[in-house]
Amino acid sequence: MKIDNVAYRSVWVDPQDGWTVRIFDQTRLPWSIDVLRLSTADEVAHAIRTMQVRGAPLIGAVAAYGLALALREDASDTAMEREAAMLAETRPTAINLRWAIGRMLARLRGVAPHSRVQAAYDEAAAICDEDVAQNEAIGRNGLSLLSEIAARRGNRVDVLTHCNAGWIATVDWGTALAPIYMAHDQGIDVHVWVDETRPRNQGALLTAWELGRHGVPHTVIADNAGGHLMQHGKVDAVIVGTDRVTRQGDVANKIGTYLKALAAHDNGVPFWVALPSTTIDWTIGDGVREIEIEERNADEVGAITGPLVGPGDVDREGEVRTIRLVPPGSRAANPAFDVTPARLVSGLITERGVCAASEAGLLSLFPERRQTA
Ligand code: MRU
Repeated sequence: MKIDNVAYRSVWVDPQDGWTVRIFDQTRLPWSIDVLRLSTADEVAHAIRTMQVRGAPLIGAVAAYGLALALREDASDTAMEREAAMLAETRPTAINLRWAIGRMLARLRGVAPHSRVQAAYDEAAAICDEDVAQNEAIGRNGLSLLSEIAARRGNRVDVLTHCNAGWIATVDWGTALAPIYMAHDQGIDVHVWVDETRPRNQGALLTAWELGRHGVPHTVIADNAGGHLMQHGKVDAVIVGTDRVTRQGDVANKIGTYLKALAAHDNGVPFWVALPSTTIDWTIGDGVREIEIEERNADEVGAITGPLVGPGDVDREGEVRTIRLVPPGSRAANPAFDVTPARLVSGLITERGVCAASEAGLLSLFPERRQTA
């Protein structure tokens, strides 16, 4: 993503000092582009818990750097295992977090403590580079699907997406948005229906911001509008990202994804899920029963945050405020993810190609998993 004509990844090591970790504060986007400096594992954990960084692949990459920061303070076996466990617990649903920490530990356990810091930075950098390459490949594979639709529709494609699975949710490119960026860059007339994605509004805030910066035509809609648009032929395909895909192809993603899949199924609209293989949890099959769904603070449902709009109070226009939505005394609940069963998923778009959402489909692309599956 380019900001002021400079290409940025969503996480990087500060080239000035060579060790602090930089991220964009996603709780401030799009009203303000603030770069945060993370210098301890606790700061990384705080950034993940509070969703200053979010999106399954990105939290894995940032957590990997979090372990490198922890090792700068204490590279002993005990400290490494303790800090790794602490970072892995920061959010429960996205498997990339535990995958990244697991990969870091697998690399570092065999390294002597005095060499661990450099090895940790190198491994975290490799995780980031691989994420970028995987997402670019997902983009190319998804582009073929969009090109087929465009060929039938006079170069036009209308895609609906939920939450944010773009550049800012990964190290670069995004998953669900990568094919959209590529289609747009190739001259396909792609338009995106962007679910606002209550309660945190990742669609209205982050996806709309990203698409706008890239020049992709888009329209933000209330979360409940997608079914209606599909009934009226205004959606050619749904593409979403995911926080965890099980061995049998069940998909955990932002709350509300399941309802979009049901509506897509009812209307014969393809429902595709874009993911790097780091999002596959080969250890579980039944996503509805086995994936832990994060329950976030109910205040996220009971209130909404954003800049004041005029003309009510011109002096304070633009000031970011939190406004209460729910009357005092009413309870709110906030399950942050849901699981879409594989039978509702038309295909999984991975870095190795597109496959059926099933164990056979996944194993056809990842045959090396046959023994563990
Ligand atoms: O709670 P969030 O904002 O971290 O949830 C993110 C999502 O649900 C994304 O769609 C998912 O992580 C895919 S990101 C490429």
